[in-house]
Formats: sequence, C-alpha cells, structure tokens
Amino acid sequence: KCGSMGGESFTEEQEALVVKSWNLMKKNAGEWGLKFFIKIFEIAPSAQKLFSFLKDSNVPLEQNPKLKPHAKSVFVMTCEAAVQLRKAGKVVVRDSSLKKIGGVHFQYGVVDEHFEVTKYALLETIKEAVGEMWSAEMKNAWSVAYDQLVVAIKTEMKP
Ligand code: HEM
Repeated sequence: KCGSMGGESFTEEQEALVVKSWNLMKKNAGEWGLKFFIKIFEIAPSAQKLFSFLKDSNVPLEQNPKLKPHAKSVFVMTCEAAVQLRKAGKVVVRDSSLKKIGGVHFQYGVVDEHFEVTKYALLETIKEAVGEMWSAEMKNAWSVAYDQLVVAIKTEMKP
C-alpha cells in the first residue's frame, strides 16, 4: 500500500458499488452478456474470429449458446476481483484456473486491444443496465477491478 503500486487501495465503497450493480444485472445476466459481446463485435468485428464456437457456427450470434457463458464469466470474475481487491489488496484467482485462463487466451490469440475494447464495452453495458445508479465512482470501481484482473490473466498468458 505504501506507494508500491502508486495508487489507492480498493475501498469498501468501491466493492459495494461493483457488487450492488452486478446483483442488479445478474437476474438478466444472459441478456446483458449478449449486449456486452455484441458491443465488442461492433467495435472490433475481427474479435469474433477468435471464438472457435462462433467461427465454425451457422447459427446467428444471438442464438449461439456458448457466447453468454463467456460474457458472464467476465462479469463474475471482475466482480470477484473487486471483492478480493478490497479483502486482500490484490486479485487472487485459484492458481490452476488462472494458468488455464491465461493459457487459453494466449492460445486463441487474444491481445491487449481486445482487452481494451472489452473494458469499454463492459462499462457501457453496466451503464445501460443500472441507469440512474451509474456514477463516475461506479465506473472507476469496475475499471480498477477489471484492469487488475486483466493484469493477473496476462501474467499467465504464455504457452
Ligand atoms: C475463454 C474469461 C476476456 C476471448 C475464456 C474462458 C474464461 C474466460 C473463464 C474459458 C477458459 C477455459 O476454456 O477454461 C475471461 C475473462 C476476461 C476475458 C475473465 C476478462 C477479464 C476475453 C477477451 C477476449 C476473450 C477480451 C477476446 C475478445 C476468449 C476466447 C476464449 C476464451 C476466444 C476461448 C473460447 C473458445 O473456446 O473458443 N475466457 N475472458 N476473452 N476467451 Fe475470455
């Protein structure tokens, strides 16, 4: 905490903002997840090609059964990252699963730009979902949690 990361530590208020907004969205996680990834593919159409189940599929994007689970993973893991940041000051994902996730993203060719577009789309989706509840503080809390999670994933992005 003492300046090592050059930033403030994650507060209880920030954790609460993330958890509160996710709780609101999670009843319709499938729908928000779909909107989230449609935004990503609007901005970066080529990202669709990364997903094996989209590349080899004839069903329309909205009907692909595998898209929603990935979208939900991003939400859930970012929310969990917020909880851990407050509790432990860092993102802790079980070592084995972090290795696996890092390895999968490396293997499928996910690069920095994809993580950036995804961050933008994530924040836009939450903004739309929570309506009046949206604030600069809420945006910042999700941003920090997402960034820290991505740092953790990237450390394991190797063959
Ligand atoms: C797979 C989470 C960001 C593309 C996965 C898996 C998880 C996950 C849990 C399944 C891994 C497994 O097979 O065990 C996350 C999280 C993210 C993130 C938490 C951000 C914090 C991204 C981004 C992209 C991406 C930005 C690209 C736009 C993929 C692809 C796969 C994958 C292509 C493999 C899907 C397939 O089987 O074809 N991700 N992901 N992910 N993710 Fe992500």
